[in-house]
Amino acid sequence: MEAFSFERQIKHYNSYQKILLVGEGDFSFAVCLARAFDLAVNMFVTSLDSRESLMLNYSKAMSKVMELEARGCKVLLEVDVHSMSQHPFLISERFDRIIYNFPHVGYLHGPFSAECNGFQNRFHQDLIRGFLQNASQILTAIGEIHVTHKTTFPFSEQKIVELAQEVGLYLVHEEHFSLLDYPAYENKRGAWICDQPFPVGMCITFKFAKLHSYTTSGFNLGITAPGPWSGYSGIIGPHMQCDVTGNMPKYISTIEYSKAYSSYQKILLVGEGDFSFAACLARAFGSAANIVATSLDSREFLMVNYSKAMSNLKELENRGCTILHCVDCKTMNLHPCLYNKRFDRIIYNFPHSGYSNGLSSSEYSIFQILSHQNLVRAYFKSAREMLTETGEVHVTHKTTYPFSEWNIVTLALEAGLFLVDVESFSLWNYPGYQNKRGAGICDQTFPVGKSSTFKFSKYLPVSSSMVREY
Ligand SMILES: C[S@@+](CC[C@H](N)C(=O)[O-])C[C@H]1O[C@@H](n2cnc3c(N)ncnc32)[C@H](O)[C@@H]1O
Repeated sequence: MEAFSFERQIKHYNSYQKILLVGEGDFSFAVCLARAFDLAVNMFVTSLDSRESLMLNYSKAMSKVMELEARGCKVLLEVDVHSMSQHPFLISERFDRIIYNFPHVGYLHGPFSAECNGFQNRFHQDLIRGFLQNASQILTAIGEIHVTHKTTFPFSEQKIVELAQEVGLYLVHEEHFSLLDYPAYENKRGAWICDQPFPVGMCITFKFAKLHSYTTSGFNLGITAPGPWSGYSGIIGPHMQCDVTGNMPKYISTIEYSKAYSSYQKILLVGEGDFSFAACLARAFGSAANIVATSLDSREFLMVNYSKAMSNLKELENRGCTILHCVDCKTMNLHPCLYNKRFDRIIYNFPHSGYSNGLSSSEYSIFQILSHQNLVRAYFKSAREMLTETGEVHVTHKTTYPFSEWNIVTLALEAGLFLVDVESFSLWNYPGYQNKRGAGICDQTFPVGKSSTFKFSKYLPVSSSMVREY
């Protein structure tokens, strides 16, 4: 995909996501996104209709298709959602978002069919099930499938959350849908009276993700529980957690969920030593397709200086991790493989700039502290450029003197990052992770003592008291 110089966004969609739209009517939703992004090279847009049927039945479809193509969007016609994963132009693609607004199978008995008819309902369910099944085949590991749907009777009878569960998807989030969020989108009826819009009424965008099997040892993935959501009787997904104030389960917001690392986050690891931290996360997730693990050291250097680096790297490669060497965290946002990527979590454990006067350097020396500060400040600046809107930059660091003198919360503020959480760090939470010294005595571990994981985001937390506390 062509890289954008900067991210453009509309509602929950952005130009960094590879987006597939299916079952488009007159393509006005696709055009609305494309205009917001300016370029639409990240979009594939499909319709079940043929070019002739679009021409005959929708007054504006052809002009919209032309606009989409001019913006670099791929437009595919006669794509059936029941079999789209086998479509020759889609079979080898993977999407971050697959979107179907107002799925409708057409009318069983012509335009006078009743939506509350049981057979009509089953037809709709068959369409949605087929769509969800196919969509999950061409979804990235951390992608989402969005279905916007009326929530009132008889549409609520379609029970799309249960249909999703049947095909191994779970509900991540429900969001109220408003046409006001999508300028120029004209929701069309399709099915006999194609070009007519319809009142959207009470609508929700249901967001689904794939279920992954977890090995939770050592990871606080939260207490999971079935949920009471509309027409929804209990799919257990990692974004759902019991409210600590009561028994009612609720969704875990991005910030709450950040207490753990998960395979649903795009994670960048920085300044890895022997890659044992990366390997630990990868084992917990089962797959490391969501992880980019980096080191300043070259592969050759790692081979010579760390006894287990090669076996950790091999394990990571087998699990689909992207591994990059010679990545300087001070300038990583400009790295050719990273400059157009965005991450939900960027993690640097125990940053250390090396010893300015060789091994006899003292951590108490002001020059040494300044050197560490330069490293961490530049890391924050670079990481901020690579963060998603709701993303977090994490640093695990000793909190005792002289390390407390680095003042990392102030360094973060200087880089435009705000403290959102501090969590006491324990090696017990990360089985297999061996924290390494690097810097001349690479393969030695060191006592982590009193350490914390400091978590920063681009935006001030609702309660900004944390900024004052540190
Ligand atoms: C104390 S070691 C910690 C290693 C590893 N994070 C761990 O926890 O085991 C500090 C690490 O920071 C890395 N480092 C130092 N300067 C760096 C830079 N400019 N960019 C990326 N990594 C850097 C070193 O290569 C070393 O691996």
